[in-house]
Amino acid sequence: MNVRYYAASSLDGYIATEDHGLDWLLQFGDVEETSYPDFIRDVGAIAMGSATYEWILRHQVHADTEESQSWPYQQPVWVFTSRSLPAVDGADIHFVSGDITPVYRQMVRMAGDSNIWIAGGGELAGQFFDQQLLDELIIQVTSVTLGGGIPLLPRTITAPSLKLISATTFGQNFVELHYEVQYPDNVA
Ligand SMILES: NC(=O)c1ccc[n+]([C@@H]2O[C@H](COP(=O)([O-])OP(=O)(O)OC[C@H]3O[C@@H](n4cnc5c(N)ncnc54)[C@H](OP(=O)(O)O)[C@@H]3O)[C@@H](O)[C@H]2O)c1
Repeated sequence: MNVRYYAASSLDGYIATEDHGLDWLLQFGDVEETSYPDFIRDVGAIAMGSATYEWILRHQVHADTEESQSWPYQQPVWVFTSRSLPAVDGADIHFVSGDITPVYRQMVRMAGDSNIWIAGGGELAGQFFDQQLLDELIIQVTSVTLGGGIPLLPRTITAPSLKLISATTFGQNFVELHYEVQYPDNVA
């Protein structure tokens, strides 16, 4: 079981524009042509911040267009928020706040042998990193720059550095970088 932050980033290190826009990413189309189908198969529990959850509600579940979709995850999802947010009928969603450590323990119990996905944003992934609970980064670096926005991972990680496991291209628009997070007491 590993805790994985899996996300797409612009070349200059942003996961969304300042106003939570993702059109720069969605222009590249179908996630089925990326590593996502293989990745999600091994996920047993998902964590996300409220902005990510609200984006899914706004643009997918409650989208007032023909693109409206059902809740996209079979796995239990923990949404971090200090507010009271609407649930989604039939979805296994737990609203939580504060320290991530007890939530992580619940997620481990539910995930079993499968992985935990930190879906975003970067600050939430950073909270897992702060507690040395983030094991891997799997980042699809996209062929665009945004010049500003919501950062991929607002933490300083220099020594030990991240350990590069692989770099894989998907078509002309994505390079997927897979890193293992090293902590001072477990550098390989
Ligand atoms: N490119 C990609 O692959 C990708 C992946 C994921 C997300 N995204 C997008 O990137 C953006 C992420 O935005 P973000 O970084 O601002 O958002 P986020 O992590 O989704 O949400 C941040 C919010 O979550 C709540 N929160 C976080 N940690 C908490 C804690 N420990 N306890 C209680 N509440 C907590 C806080 O809001 P409240 O307490 O006010 O609720 C916080 O402002 C979104 O637009 C999302 O759609 C992109």
